[in-house]
Amino acid sequence: MLLDDFRSAAASLRTDGPGQIAAASSLDAWTEVRNALVGRTSGRLSDLMTALGTLPKEDRREAGQLANAVKQELEALLDARHTELSRGQQQGPAIDGTMPARATWQGSVHPVSLVIDEVVEIFRELGFTIALGPEAEHAWYNFGALNFPADHPAMDLHDTLYLNDDLVLRTHTSPVQVRTLQQYAPPIRILAPGNVYRRDFFDPSHAPMFSQIEGLVVDEGITFADLKATLTRFANRFFGETKTRFRPSYFPFTEPSAEMDVLCGVCKGSGCPVCKQSGWVEILGSGMVHPTVLENAGIDSEKYTGWAFGLGPARTAISRHAIPDIRILYDSDVRFLEQFAR
Ligand code: PHE
Repeated sequence: MLLDDFRSAAASLRTDGPGQIAAASSLDAWTEVRNALVGRTSGRLSDLMTALGTLPKEDRREAGQLANAVKQELEALLDARHTELSRGQQQGPAIDGTMPARATWQGSVHPVSLVIDEVVEIFRELGFTIALGPEAEHAWYNFGALNFPADHPAMDLHDTLYLNDDLVLRTHTSPVQVRTLQQYAPPIRILAPGNVYRRDFFDPSHAPMFSQIEGLVVDEGITFADLKATLTRFANRFFGETKTRFRPSYFPFTEPSAEMDVLCGVCKGSGCPVCKQSGWVEILGSGMVHPTVLENAGIDSEKYTGWAFGLGPARTAISRHAIPDIRILYDSDVRFLEQFAR
């Protein structure tokens, strides 16, 4: 062989080698490529080495250096490719350190659920237990037993969702009063949280479904003073030291009736949009259980008296957190809900 032929054989090995090494896609393929290129007993480099011996003596030094340079280049590329392939095999796809980190999500309790939990806890300390009733309720429990007159506007199709002639989606949690009075003998102290339904449009201050918490106390010798003392204490526990005021009101199932306001938590009474500049927020309706309701449920109204209240957790949450629109509570917007993560 002549030096020129040797040079061109070395050059073609130098150009072919890198492409073949890069194309080896598994360790087995890599071994084949290595043997074909730089294998000790066969392969293109060892052919070159054999040819070296056939060159004229004076050319061997240059040819030997050339062959060595090609060998080193190819071996470096083979090593690097081997490292890549074996890392892939052990750890799956290579790690991309420039990928942004995955966001971590923290769940939180809904602000309305937080209010319900706290109210339940405060009344539990006072000896109240939990009672539940159905959301699809007989009209008698929702209205009749609660002393609604036959022509009361709440019973109108405009305000109440009827499932059929007899069944309604309960418009308040007060039917649980009647169910409890039928089922248990006084002394009774229960709390009944649950969802209620009204035919309202969804606007900033109304929702067609919302939650209520009903409270009921019935025993011998219960008076309006018990109602006032208990609800005032509750307000101070729940809101921190605050002021309450009772305004006369009307419900068919209580007499006398009163609504309780607390000092607006946002402006502390000076007036703001949340309290419509009044300084007060109404949080519950209450009153002495009407004797007719006790009798309708089979309780002797000569012997027993009682009081009841119905509180709106959504309203309470709204005044507590100065939420401008009740619909935000039902939007399931994670950006809003995340604020309540603890
Ligand atoms: N049920 C009444 C309402 O939904 C609230 C209430 C409950 C009032 C108990 C007095 C006693 O508005």
